[in-house]
Amino acid sequence: MKYLILLAVLPWVAAQHTGCSHGVASSAQIAIASDRFRYSDHLHELGHLQNLIENFRKQNYNVHLFLTHYSFVTKKPHVDHVNYTLKNQGIPEFTKTSVWDFFRGTPRSGKKPAQIYIILSSFTSYGFHAPVWELRRQGIEIFTVQYDKIKDVEREKVASFPPDTHVYSWRHHDHPETLVSELTRAVCMSIERNERKAKKALLPQVRLVNGTGPCDGRVGVLYNGTWGWLSDEDWTRRSADVVCRQLRCGPSVEALKGDAFGSGGGHILQAVACTGYEKDISQCLLGVWAEEAPGSHGRAGVVCLPSGVGDVSLVNGSGPCDGIVEVSLNNHPSRVCSWNFDLLEAAIICRQLGCGSLQHVQMYRAEPDANIITVEKLICSGSESKLSECGASLWRPETCYLNIHAGITCSPSDLTGVRLVGGSSTCSGRVKVQINGTSGPLCADDWTLAEDVVVCREAGCGPAIKMKQKWITRPPKARANLQRLFCAGNEPNLSRCAAVASKGYDCDFLEAEVLCSQSGISNVTLVQGNSPCEGRVEVYHKGQWGTICDEEWDLGDANVVCRQVGCGSALVAPKGAVFGQGSGPVWLEKVFCNGSESLLSHCGALISRVGGCDHAQDSSVICAERIKP
Ligand SMILES: *[C@@H]1O[C@H](CO)[C@@H](O)[C@H](O)[C@H]1NC(C)=O
Ligand SMILES: *[C@@H]1O[C@H](CO)[C@@H](O)[C@H](O)[C@H]1NC(C)=O
Ligand SMILES: *[C@@H]1O[C@H](CO)[C@@H](O)[C@H](O)[C@H]1NC(C)=O
Ligand SMILES: *[C@@H]1O[C@H](CO)[C@@H](O)[C@H](O)[C@H]1NC(C)=O
Ligand SMILES: *[C@@H]1O[C@H](CO)[C@@H](O)[C@H](O)[C@H]1NC(C)=O
Ligand SMILES: *[C@@H]1O[C@H](CO)[C@@H](O)[C@H](O)[C@H]1NC(C)=O
Repeated sequence: MKYLILLAVLPWVAAQHTGCSHGVASSAQIAIASDRFRYSDHLHELGHLQNLIENFRKQNYNVHLFLTHYSFVTKKPHVDHVNYTLKNQGIPEFTKTSVWDFFRGTPRSGKKPAQIYIILSSFTSYGFHAPVWELRRQGIEIFTVQYDKIKDVEREKVASFPPDTHVYSWRHHDHPETLVSELTRAVCMSIERNERKAKKALLPQVRLVNGTGPCDGRVGVLYNGTWGWLSDEDWTRRSADVVCRQLRCGPSVEALKGDAFGSGGGHILQAVACTGYEKDISQCLLGVWAEEAPGSHGRAGVVCLPSGVGDVSLVNGSGPCDGIVEVSLNNHPSRVCSWNFDLLEAAIICRQLGCGSLQHVQMYRAEPDANIITVEKLICSGSESKLSECGASLWRPETCYLNIHAGITCSPSDLTGVRLVGGSSTCSGRVKVQINGTSGPLCADDWTLAEDVVVCREAGCGPAIKMKQKWITRPPKARANLQRLFCAGNEPNLSRCAAVASKGYDCDFLEAEVLCSQSGISNVTLVQGNSPCEGRVEVYHKGQWGTICDEEWDLGDANVVCRQVGCGSALVAPKGAVFGQGSGPVWLEKVFCNGSESLLSHCGALISRVGGCDHAQDSSVICAERIKP
């Protein structure tokens, strides 16, 4: 460790998340900044911040400590890098360097770190907007820890920090160590996301070679610009399923080793290990990309079913809305093993069949039937509009112990409205939904950003703002109207999300609460194109033009933009700042248009947050009309 940070001896509290899983291999550096004027008042919190530092240092992350302060000389807020040394009687002394000089100046450790995370502890009171924006512009990701409970108005203010700032507050946690744990996890997740993104960029494509069709053959991969092969070392059905899914084939039926589809020369990507749920192979653990060595492992082969999940129906019940789940898989009737069948898949089926919300899941003991395939697991992520967009796994049908198949009962529920209560405006607060004429809360189990986005849209507010501390309210045991909701984000209202009815269920833990921006996206324009009908998409929000991250940018979103600027429909939805990088905020992390909206402000959207969206990911459009009529 190059930088040793010493502070007063403070109590050590073990946290649940004490570091990231990858440690040394990461290029990320973590900086912790704290407001020095609060030191004496907040030694306790500082102790926990110190724990955070220790947690990361133990994983060999390079952690820097910064102090934020307001200078009465320059009348400006400052963020200084601190180099602590303990002098006589253990009194700390420090030298400081401005954070900009520190990161911008002569590289200290050879080269500039690829990722830097800054955790600022309390800076609202001194007007730190400018330095924080400056840090963010330099690509430094920022997490903040507030000392005090943030009121909703202040959250709006915090939201005018770089839009992707993570905000935490000590006051929102009964135990500061839960905050330390969450913060550690959030930083780790962000690091992991960035590293996955880097890896994904290296491994964009797979193909199957020397098989009988597009869904079987030797696994070819395009890695770092060169085509090569996957090694058969550790090659399993789990990884094979991921390759099949990536190629839009059905699930795997065989994972073959030993050059079963011939050998072929070139590089080999060693030891690929997937859990089976990844969307593509780049999300799996990847070994080394190496030149073929004599006597090395063979090349992996796979046989996938040519097609996956098709129609679904409920059979042998009292009507179309209950019974055994029957799925067509590669055009064969199949049933789903009950042990791995989740509420999400069940709720998606109820919605697809027009049967309302899921009431309950049942089990059906079946006689073995050679004509019926047993699906080990359906794999949905929640963003699917119908079951055929989900994956399926067949790799261990024998685990369907006792041959128990899944069945469900759905029933209509009339979700007629949503309202936010207890916040500082009609655009924040706890979520109350109107179902069958009664208003009640929603439980926060598995609540995700997609639900936030749909609630904000239905409530007529601006884009959703990620609330890190969403579950702070502990209402008296609230009788929930719905137990769970699964939205994709592009639904016009909550009644179109897949839902699980509550059966008088009390929220176990906490009610759903959302924070939406009070103002929407008020304008959209295209810049830097060769015609008025192409270019980088810039949106106007809170008095400033900014861009849209390309992570889930698609033709549906681009269609809405083209229509709004009077250029017809969209031809292409280019990602990756093809019309140059913007300079304002990356306002939106995602927009969720279904393509039929007339204005971008009618689509659900999420204000961007830490997650690696930078201007290199600015979204653009090329519209069909080249000149505005
Ligand atoms: C920190 O200060 C000590 C003593 O002044 C010095 O030897 C050391 O190089 C400094 N470290 C950094 C990173 O500036
Ligand atoms: C990718 O390829 C380039 C040159 O072809 C090489 O310099 C670079 O190290 C490679 N990156 C990885 C991660 O293999
Ligand atoms: C294709 O696979 C067969 C074995 O199934 C092998 O004999 C043949 O050489 C392979 N062709 C190529 C081009 O690898
Ligand atoms: C479906 O219903 C028929 C007759 O109602 C019954 O014989 C059969 O066992 C049922 N199948 C299952 C899997 O329960
Ligand atoms: C709503 O009413 C329908 C029909 O009256 C009923 O089947 C359903 O269970 C009710 N849903 C809830 C959540 O109360
Ligand atoms: C939800 O959206 C659908 C489709 O636009 C519409 O038919 C329905 O009336 C809406 N429901 C509510 C409660 O607004």
